[in-house]
Amino acid sequence: MSRDEQKKLAAEKALEYVEEGTVVGVGTGSTVAFFIDGLARMKDRIEGAVSSSEQSTRQLQSHGIPVLDLNAVGPLKLYVDGADECDPYNRLIKGGGAALTREKIIAQASDRFVCIIDEAKQVELLGAFPVPVEVIPMARSLVGRALVALGGQPVWREGVVTDNGNWILDVHNWRIQDPVGLEAKINQIPGVVTCGLFAARPADEVIIGGKVRPVRP
Ligand code: 5RP
Repeated sequence: MSRDEQKKLAAEKALEYVEEGTVVGVGTGSTVAFFIDGLARMKDRIEGAVSSSEQSTRQLQSHGIPVLDLNAVGPLKLYVDGADECDPYNRLIKGGGAALTREKIIAQASDRFVCIIDEAKQVELLGAFPVPVEVIPMARSLVGRALVALGGQPVWREGVVTDNGNWILDVHNWRIQDPVGLEAKINQIPGVVTCGLFAARPADEVIIGGKVRPVRP
């Protein structure tokens, strides 16, 4: 099965988690794009969506799905999003699409985070995919030096400005033994908005190609 076929199957399975009359949290990326297309088929049965990016907002609106402000709707029952890497404990690296900050906010605001991926995203240890870090532009060098001190090799994603007006450093060269600890350390560096490690709040369910993958205890 191709990667796109796996992504589509995962997205279709995630639609089964959507409850009627609710507001759905929606992530960003090519896998989520399949989910949004599916959500359009049931748009009359949901209240709307909270979007994690301008890209997803455009796609939701093109289908006539109302995009709502998180502040106005409060906690969400469900958040559906993709990932760049996923370990056996449902801890993730996200932010390949530079939407990590809004994604982390919505994940935190949701009772259930369903992550939809294809097989290639599964890893034993996080870190082969560089960890995106969103930084306030004036702090780029300061944060870069702090990331080097943590053993990483940051590379500025030049030309990319996030939806929040910030920049991205992609940190290579980490084999991440303690994702929760590293996430906390990165997030404490002044100038960091957030990092793309989703370990303190991992996914609740991971769907790969149409099947829910058991989490390692
Ligand atoms: C965007 C993300 C995406 O979820 C991640 O990059 C996966 O994208 P795709 O589904 O296109 O492989 O974190 O910031």
